[in-house]
Amino acid sequence: MPPTFDPTLPLEQAHTIPAAWYFDPALAERERAIVFAGWQCVARTDQLQSAGSYVTADVAGEPIVILRDEAGTLRAFHNVCRHRAAVVVPGACGTVDRLRCRYHGWTYDLQGRLRGLPEFDGICDFRREDNGLIPLAVELFGPTVWVHPGQPAQILREFLSPLTDRGGDLARFAFAARREYPVACNWKAYVDNYLDGGYHINTVHPTLAGVLDYSQYRTELFAHASLQVSPLVADDGATAGTRSGREAQYWWVYPNFMINIYEGVMDTNLVLPDGPDRCRVIFDFYFTGQDGDYIRKSIEVADAVQVEDGDICAEVQRGLRSRTYDTGRYGRREAGVYHFHRLLWGDLAR
Ligand code: FES
Ligand SMILES: [Fe+2]
Repeated sequence: MPPTFDPTLPLEQAHTIPAAWYFDPALAERERAIVFAGWQCVARTDQLQSAGSYVTADVAGEPIVILRDEAGTLRAFHNVCRHRAAVVVPGACGTVDRLRCRYHGWTYDLQGRLRGLPEFDGICDFRREDNGLIPLAVELFGPTVWVHPGQPAQILREFLSPLTDRGGDLARFAFAARREYPVACNWKAYVDNYLDGGYHINTVHPTLAGVLDYSQYRTELFAHASLQVSPLVADDGATAGTRSGREAQYWWVYPNFMINIYEGVMDTNLVLPDGPDRCRVIFDFYFTGQDGDYIRKSIEVADAVQVEDGDICAEVQRGLRSRTYDTGRYGRREAGVYHFHRLLWGDLAR
């Protein structure tokens, strides 16, 4: 562990994590095994409504399938055949009545039990009941579906606390659209940018700056989450009336998930590493019954902000590789960034 990051210092004295953490392949591999081995958002409830509906996901390289069985129970399995490790369910989503591995045709039922295995009679010490798909914990939060690839130390509700209470009833939101953005930066540079307490809003997002009351923008820190809150001021039209209400809430959940909530408008952002210097951000947009024109304008506003964030994050990534930059300092608005780096350090130092 480089000596330059000391998580015990107060923010005023602290230095950021070293620049090499943003492009070192060995560190990216450690993050894959440790940081992304906890609760991860993998799907939406609207994708898993009917019996047999399924969604596949890649959780830090681990193939996963989430499905609803005939009895209506949501289940998640490692999507890996117990025979020769082929991925059992290909593709992104669909509906099935059983899971059939296309390699040698082993079949599993929707509870993950191994049902059919051709030409295995006479094989010694082989018990069909010991060779089902390996299950993993799956839980819901509002319209989102989460899995934990290991042994969860906390149920999802505790892990997300206090988002589960203070975010309100997110089940009121209905999914409308998804956008995916490749960004030419390490996933942490994108998260840092999100968590900087509004520090870049006036400079990078002129449109948003008009509706947020920057002087009252504040950050609250929790065990595995943080919340940035900004009161909203009267919209001058720059956001086409799509960012209204009393306040904006920007929730972040360690390590890579965000929920942005305005009046009647919500989007979730999932930041997925794509090698050490790239990431992909998946935006899911939700609304509470507004018409198509409003939804289109609202997504356009978010899209413009995302393009601005993607551009600045790519420039940061280039700068992080400079031989002149190792660590930086935290401004007084950037408690959320320091909190993230401390959680990350806590995981990687274990
Ligand atoms: S790998 Fe699945 S049946 Fe052989
Ligand atoms: Fe931004």
